[in-house]
Amino acid sequence: MLVLHSPQVVQEMTLRWRRDAKNAFVPTMGCLHEGHLKLVETARRFGQKTIVSIFVNPLQFGPNEDFEKYPRQLATDVEMLEAAGVDLVFAPSPKDFYPAQFRTRIQVQGLSEHLCGKTRPGHFEGVATVCLKLFEVTSADFAIFGEKDFQQLRILQTMAADLNLPLAIVPEPIVREESGLALSSRNRLLSPTDRNSAERVPLAIKAARQLAREVEDCSVGEAIAAAAKELAKGALVVDYLSVAPEETLIPEGSEKLLKDIAMPRLFIAVKAGSTRLIDNVSLRGI
Ligand code: PAF
Repeated sequence: MLVLHSPQVVQEMTLRWRRDAKNAFVPTMGCLHEGHLKLVETARRFGQKTIVSIFVNPLQFGPNEDFEKYPRQLATDVEMLEAAGVDLVFAPSPKDFYPAQFRTRIQVQGLSEHLCGKTRPGHFEGVATVCLKLFEVTSADFAIFGEKDFQQLRILQTMAADLNLPLAIVPEPIVREESGLALSSRNRLLSPTDRNSAERVPLAIKAARQLAREVEDCSVGEAIAAAAKELAKGALVVDYLSVAPEETLIPEGSEKLLKDIAMPRLFIAVKAGSTRLIDNVSLRGI
């Protein structure tokens, strides 16, 4: 397995590979867990060459967010990726990736303003910008993204379609711990007390899903109330708890019936201590 830091070297190499192979790419911010390995497994099914980037992208962090605190463990990550059969790890330094004269920003309008976009202004602009650049540098034919970051996934699918990018965005279902908690690099920042509270999030999801399944005319408000009741049992600060159609990501009002929404999805963002966690679940056809 190669570990390379220079965008130019990686681009030359992956363009060469692309002549007679498909490149499957998994972008990450490192501190890898089982969820990332699942993305790598999928990448290996899609492409002959598997490329993983490790880069904590400063552009997607706000001034008061956890860029400095974001966990980093390059040596361990590299070992894990070697064992997972990856061909190339691209781990640029911020200076190499964003030279001083870097000025471009990608904005996917309409999908970036709600849910996480509301409390994290500029976040999705940073994600779309880094991803477009990473797709170019790694000459990706396929890029694999987890559904935990569902809004991110929808934004990148839209960017790829709007800009006619020559690659397919492949979604991967959420990977959960035994407790139900969605895997995230940020989980390791949770204290034992925070973790107890965080485990209310999958219970909230389960409660909303169950209600949606059992009550034919379940409204958005009822599904949200079922989830809120579970969240209230933990010491959590709720950022948002919304139901939105997968297509628009614009939260629906509480009166609306789930059955009248095409592909309704419940979205949750909370803080457990100082750690921000997100999760989501489809409430469709159940
Ligand atoms: O989901 C993430 O880890 C990041 O947002 C991504 C896609 C690697 C871009 O920095």
